[in-house]
Amino acid sequence: MTTLTEHSSVPGGSTAAAAAAALNKTYGSGDTTVHALRNVDVTFEAGTFTAIMGPSGSGKSTLMHCLAGLDTADSGRIWIGGTEITALKDAELTRLRRDSVGFVFQSFNLVPTLTAEQNITLPVALANGKVDRPWLAEITDTLGLTGRLSHRPHELSGGQQQRVAVARALLTRPHVVFGDEPTGNLDSKSGAEVLSLLRRSTREMGQSIIMVTHDPVAASYADRVVLMNDGELVGELAQPTPESVLAALTKLGA
Ligand SMILES: Nc1ncnc2c1ncn2[C@@H]1O[C@H](COP(=O)(O)OP(=O)(O)OP(=O)(O)O)[C@@H](O)[C@H]1O
Ligand SMILES: [Mg+2]
Repeated sequence: MTTLTEHSSVPGGSTAAAAAAALNKTYGSGDTTVHALRNVDVTFEAGTFTAIMGPSGSGKSTLMHCLAGLDTADSGRIWIGGTEITALKDAELTRLRRDSVGFVFQSFNLVPTLTAEQNITLPVALANGKVDRPWLAEITDTLGLTGRLSHRPHELSGGQQQRVAVARALLTRPHVVFGDEPTGNLDSKSGAEVLSLLRRSTREMGQSIIMVTHDPVAASYADRVVLMNDGELVGELAQPTPESVLAALTKLGA
């Protein structure tokens, strides 16, 4: 939990897991200018699971990277858990990212020479923190990893490796976990396992999750789908189903 200055003017209230206001980002200049984000206003409620969808090149990864403090916008404001990150100095941003943000990537990014448990606790070890053992036990039990903790990544299935990555993201109880196509490399059964666990972490642990995906079935595990097109937020769906997501994407020409 961060101890940085709190800001009360967060869109959607200070309980929002993450929020952006009037976010703009362009790449290049002149004729080759790409408006990756155009005046994006969005709020992600705490304890909810949101999927960001839209055609390739619509700005999904750019939005996620800016929200997570991995990339900077040209203008606009961003909040994570009540702290305006666009007002932070580099060192403060690094600390907030470490303490308040979790990531699950398409490639699991596990260290091959470390066991599953060592991979899960690595960010805490790197920050010279103390591992919350009961919480670790609860997460790994929930994720069905208890019997796998002494295995190295190559001794685990793809789904198990991604569950290790999810456990690593959840261990620090971040304000928000970001995933960019977290199930993109998994077969449908392993993908369903990981998505169910992400959903359960919102229900049972109060975790906030923001996930970019191209898959309407993956998006249907979320509470809400936010639709992007050409750098803009163009709509959203509550309680999405694979059918309602597919229909919305078809309308966008995705
Ligand atoms: N580093 C960069 N330099 C120049 N243009 C970029 C850069 N990164 C992204 N873009 C452009 O910004 C736009 C948005 O890209 P972004 O990666 O956010 O799209 P996306 O929705 O994540 O697409 P995909 O579904 O293919 O991952 C695209 O037109 C892309 O070409
Ligand atoms: Mg992308």
